Amino acid sequence: DRMFNRQNCLIEVHPGHVLLPSKYEELGDRIRGMEVRSSDVWVVSYPRTGSTWLQEMVWCIGNDLDLERAKILQHLRTPLLELTVLMANDDGEWMRDLGNSVELVENMQSPRYIKSHLTWELLPAALSTVKPKVVYITRNPKDMCVSYYHYCTLVHNMKGSFEDFCELFLKGRVPLGPIWSHIFGFWRRRHEPNILFLTYEELKRDQEAAIRKTATFLGKTLTETEVSKLANHLSFSSMRKNPSVNLEPIMTKKNGPDFLQATELRFIRKGEVGDWKNHMTPEMTTRFDAWIEENLRGTGLSLN
Ligand code: A3P
Repeated sequence: DRMFNRQNCLIEVHPGHVLLPSKYEELGDRIRGMEVRSSDVWVVSYPRTGSTWLQEMVWCIGNDLDLERAKILQHLRTPLLELTVLMANDDGEWMRDLGNSVELVENMQSPRYIKSHLTWELLPAALSTVKPKVVYITRNPKDMCVSYYHYCTLVHNMKGSFEDFCELFLKGRVPLGPIWSHIFGFWRRRHEPNILFLTYEELKRDQEAAIRKTATFLGKTLTETEVSKLANHLSFSSMRKNPSVNLEPIMTKKNGPDFLQATELRFIRKGEVGDWKNHMTPEMTTRFDAWIEENLRGTGLSLN
């Protein structure tokens, strides 16, 4: 866990052994006790599963494809609830400019579009009584691990090899902790009418079908022209160029103007299924496959 320089005060939060920066102690109860509104729309996921992509999809559908307003920084339109917790050890000016993310969500006008990487158990308890719409997304764990490794190197200043990171990921000793309890907290509830469970692979396979499915879930009807307009806005190449969603303005502010020239790393990085093949040794692949099989057995969930 020493690999996380800036995150060196990760604490274990129960239930679920979720690892979070110690700032959680200040905000956890406030999040858990937060007001939930029936008009809210929540996008929830483990990090690096395509949540930024889905979040943009959900916001655009919910806001009748208002691509003009979509130019506003995504975090202000559809905040990451616990950003203040996750970035707590980053005391840069950029964080202060964004303010307290929990307060931002509390003060938003309805209908709110909210994103979170917290587990079901750590999210506001009122989600289970108020039952707003919740869209959950997950991804093949090998690709999640590769993507998370790059992300932690970029954003959390993590020092360490990919192999070392794999060991921590398998043990659940990375920020947000083990993936399985996270995924199953939502998979278990997938038949509830206010829950939609999606996968990254499904979005990649047929983005337009995923747009239609999500629109139906949100109670919206899109014309074919609107579906393709949105698919275009959400394509990997346009998302990568879109400063409102790719965090480049924030990363430049944080690390200085030359930062992006100096690194190949990007928040919206590769956008492929199966990039693990370019990173994992055959031994590591075998270990991941056995681990995935063991955890998915009998659950009806497949993550290929
Ligand atoms: P890679 O690192 O494999 O490229 P999250 O937003 O949950 O953190 O997930 C990030 C992952 O989603 C990254 O995966 C990122 O590149 C990918 N992603 C973001 N926008 C995408 C898009 N429009 N199409 C495909 N993948 C996208």
